[in-house]
Amino acid sequence: MKPKMHTLAYRLLAIAALWPAVTLGQAPPAAEAKPEPAAAAKPAAADAVEYSKKGADTCLTCHDDEHVMSVFHTKHGQPSDARSPFGKGQLQCEACHGPGGNHTKKVKKGESRPPMVQFGRKAVTPVAVQNGMCLGCHEKSMSASWHAGPHDANNVSCASCHDSHVAKDPVLAANTQADVCYTCHVAQRGEFLKPYAHPMRQGKIACSDCHQPHGSTSEAQLVKATVNQTCYQCHAEKRGPFLWEHAPVPEDCSNCHAPHGSSNPGMLTARGPLLCQSCHSQQGHPSLSYGPSGLPGRTGPTVSTLVLGNCMNCHSQVHGSNHPSGASLTR
Ligand code: HEC
Ligand code: HEC
Ligand code: HEC
Ligand code: HEC
Ligand code: HEC
Ligand code: HEC
Ligand code: HEC
Ligand code: HEC
Ligand code: HEC
Ligand code: HEC
Repeated sequence: MKPKMHTLAYRLLAIAALWPAVTLGQAPPAAEAKPEPAAAAKPAAADAVEYSKKGADTCLTCHDDEHVMSVFHTKHGQPSDARSPFGKGQLQCEACHGPGGNHTKKVKKGESRPPMVQFGRKAVTPVAVQNGMCLGCHEKSMSASWHAGPHDANNVSCASCHDSHVAKDPVLAANTQADVCYTCHVAQRGEFLKPYAHPMRQGKIACSDCHQPHGSTSEAQLVKATVNQTCYQCHAEKRGPFLWEHAPVPEDCSNCHAPHGSSNPGMLTARGPLLCQSCHSQQGHPSLSYGPSGLPGRTGPTVSTLVLGNCMNCHSQVHGSNHPSGASLTR
């Protein structure tokens, strides 16, 4: 995927073109910038939509149900944080939902109420406009990774992962995050339901321990540059250094392990000898052990390897060995 860089100005211009109610001059002030009084952000153009005069107080006369009110239990509803939508001089509800001047006015019989910016997967508001409202404050912290990632490229809105009107946003907590992701990534739910899987169901690991949901430059949007560096975060002992390395291990853990889950013990991609034999040729000791000549009472040399069956019974140090005579990973 080619990274697409957008400057904020570019993005806001695109928004203005797509959604006439939001114009460049009305962009919500950036969280990182000093907050300006709401009046300063008001549009110069005469025909542009205005912000409501009393802000949230106006909105709450019609929208005061529990779901809407919960915004005051979130980081966005903190008057003490000058950068938050409810900080001094900020635009309150309209920082996210756009100017509500027309929406809050009396509506004549038979006419429909002018819409606000709506969020979520079913919203009629274009995704670029929805995300633009959030990026007005969050662009800097998201930086280029967001625009380089598959979610932005596939029109996934911030609000399809984030719920702004609940005290605890499910996608931010380890025990509830996966269910948000599974609404789109159905196959991965199946993988984590397999008998040998990372403890996702138990809430002991989150997708975001391994993936950067806002996009990264790594394969599969991993949080680290490679698969192995991602795994070493928690399995540091597998990093080594080892006196005797096993080549496929430092190369890529997923040579042998399915990172989400598998039906094989140890989350292996294949069982016992088959896994090893997928790389180790049938010639020499490994294959000899599986010929009929190796059976007890026959003439073959390596009876024990056949009887013992699994390569790991002898080659127990499959991730690498630090024993002086561990070249064959047997100790
Ligand atoms: C006079 C009453 C009234 C006021 C004041 C009002 N609204 Fe609304 N709002 C409505 C009604 C009625 C609807 C449903 C309109 C429709 O479905 O066509 C609505 C719909 C909405 C929606 C879309 C809801 C959805 O289902 O997605 C949002 C968002 C919204 N209002 C936000 C606001 C904000 C923010 C303010 C303050 C700036 C505000 N409203 C002020 C009456 C009001
Ligand atoms: C007016 C600026 C502003 C707007 C607009 C805004 N945010 Fe925020 N947001 C903030 C601030 C400030 C914080 C608190 C940051 C902190 O504590 O470091 C925050 C925090 C968050 C957090 C972290 C919450 C937590 O509990 O840790 C999420 C997620 C978030 N915003 C998503 C969004 C989404 C999605 C939108 C658009 C629907 C949005 N924001 C719109 C300013 C804004
Ligand atoms: C695919 C789901 C997904 C999408 C889409 C998404 N986020 Fe997030 N967001 C998350 C998750 C998961 C976390 C928690 C990350 C963590 O714990 O490391 C998060 C964390 C955050 C935070 C908290 C601070 C931080 O960076 O860790 C903010 C702010 C935020 N998101 C804003 C946004 C905005 C703005 C958008 C849209 C431009 C957006 N997110 C789109 C899943 C998503
Ligand atoms: C940080 C951005 C943000 C702020 C601030 C915010 N909203 Fe929302 N609002 C959203 C998002 C995102 C949704 C989509 C559904 C959700 O996340 O729960 C939404 C959904 C809604 C809905 C439709 C769903 C429902 O429950 O009917 C209404 C109405 C609404 N908001 C009104 C308001 C009002 C009134 C305020 C101010 C008191 C406000 N919002 C403040 C982001 C915000
Ligand atoms: C609204 C739907 C939606 C939600 C919710 C969602 N995603 Fe995605 N995700 C997509 C789409 C669409 C793509 C790009 C197409 C694809 O690769 O499947 C994608 C791609 C990805 C990729 C890259 C896959 C690859 O092959 O490189 C990862 C990783 C990912 N998402 C993780 C997550 C995580 C983690 C969450 C939850 C925090 C999440 N997604 C939530 C729709 C979603
Ligand atoms: C222990 C780390 C880890 C966790 C936790 C994790 N993933 Fe992954 N995921 C990976 C790795 C590594 C890959 C890349 C596999 C490869 O390239 O061989 C991957 C690949 C993916 C892909 C690309 C398609 C595929 O399956 O190869 C998607 C989509 C994805 N993960 C979604 C998720 C979702 C959703 C969650 C949470 C429910 C999640 N992942 C949790 C490590 C993890
Ligand atoms: C956020 C921490 C974390 C990360 C990152 C992580 N793991 Fe794990 N891993 C765990 C936990 C927790 C367990 C379960 C340990 C237990 O049950 O005792 C586990 C177990 C395993 C197991 C043993 C499964 C079994 O049935 O015995 C394997 C194999 C494994 N992880 C491989 C990987 C690979 C490969 C990666 C990188 C793609 C990775 N892990 C990344 C935390 C992590
Ligand atoms: C050549 C194949 C192979 C590669 C590559 C590999 N493993 Fe393993 N791994 C195994 C086998 C075989 C087991 C034993 C499974 C069992 O006990 O049933 C195992 C077991 C594990 C276990 C659980 C038992 C233990 O030893 O802690 C973890 C965790 C683990 N591997 C992590 C990793 C990580 C992290 C990487 C990448 C650095 C990796 N593995 C690379 C083959 C491999
Ligand atoms: C992805 C391919 C791959 C898989 C799977 C794999 N190996 Fe290896 N293995 C290698 C490579 C490559 C070497 C290094 C060969 C060399 O240096 O000539 C190696 C080396 C070894 C050695 C040391 C050989 C020596 O030169 O002394 C042993 C023992 C070994 N592997 C056993 C196993 C066992 C047991 C398994 C199954 C758990 C396994 N391997 C799975 C690729 C693999
Ligand atoms: C009964 C114990 C035992 C079992 C079971 C066993 N090995 Fe070995 N293997 C050894 C010993 C001991 C050596 C060292 C031989 C030497 O140094 O001459 C060795 C050497 C190797 C080597 C180094 C190269 C070679 O051919 O000499 C590879 C690769 C290897 N084994 C792979 C496997 C694989 C794959 C399996 C399972 C199909 C397996 N082994 C099962 C004991 C065993």
